[in-house]
Amino acid sequence: MNAHSRKPFGVDLASQSAAGEEDPGASLEDFAGDSAAPARTALPDSTLPTWSSPMTEPAEHLMDWLRDAHAMEEQAETMLQTASDRLENYPELKAKLQAHLQETREQARLLRECIQRRGGDTSGVKDMAGKMSAMMQGLGARMADDEVMKVAMSCYAFEHFEVATYRILVAAADMAQDTQTRQVCDDILRQEEATAAWLGERLGVLTQEFLVLSRGAGSDAKR
Ligand SMILES: [Fe+2]
Repeated sequence: MNAHSRKPFGVDLASQSAAGEEDPGASLEDFAGDSAAPARTALPDSTLPTWSSPMTEPAEHLMDWLRDAHAMEEQAETMLQTASDRLENYPELKAKLQAHLQETREQARLLRECIQRRGGDTSGVKDMAGKMSAMMQGLGARMADDEVMKVAMSCYAFEHFEVATYRILVAAADMAQDTQTRQVCDDILRQEEATAAWLGERLGVLTQEFLVLSRGAGSDAKR
């Protein structure tokens, strides 16, 4: 069960009623009004939960973003697996993607631990949708004559997306005063930054390798 399902509209009804010196057992019907018991409906409007002004705590955003990050890492795993399996003539890039695949699996595991420690779970449609989109991306690259270049570009862009994700998570974990989650996200951030930097430094050389191979038989250059 996630934070949203525990707190509809971001409001904890039980603690609201306690703070308002109402019967802690008061139900929604009590708040809605009852002509037989007018004293129980005298709460000021500002204490009532509404659809139009949800209150969302940093902790709830943190949970959403951790789940997004977990879905992202599952997507990365599919993308890295497909790309590294297919590369044949670019051993350095292949080895790097395989190494980052291992890191990515560990990152997903650490995120699951953070989510579970905070009372959430990682099941959901989003994870599946991410995997599907990674597979489609892989298929798109496969059809290109310059598959290796498409893979390198996708990975470089994806790593920067991950860097942004973990910078946001570090700040959110700070706000939520969750030092363990902050540490995990900061450690993962360093790995993503290192991978992004590695790819960035090698894009030029990789392009030249590809262009040289393309001049020869041609088919070796693709991947
Ligand atoms: Fe990554």
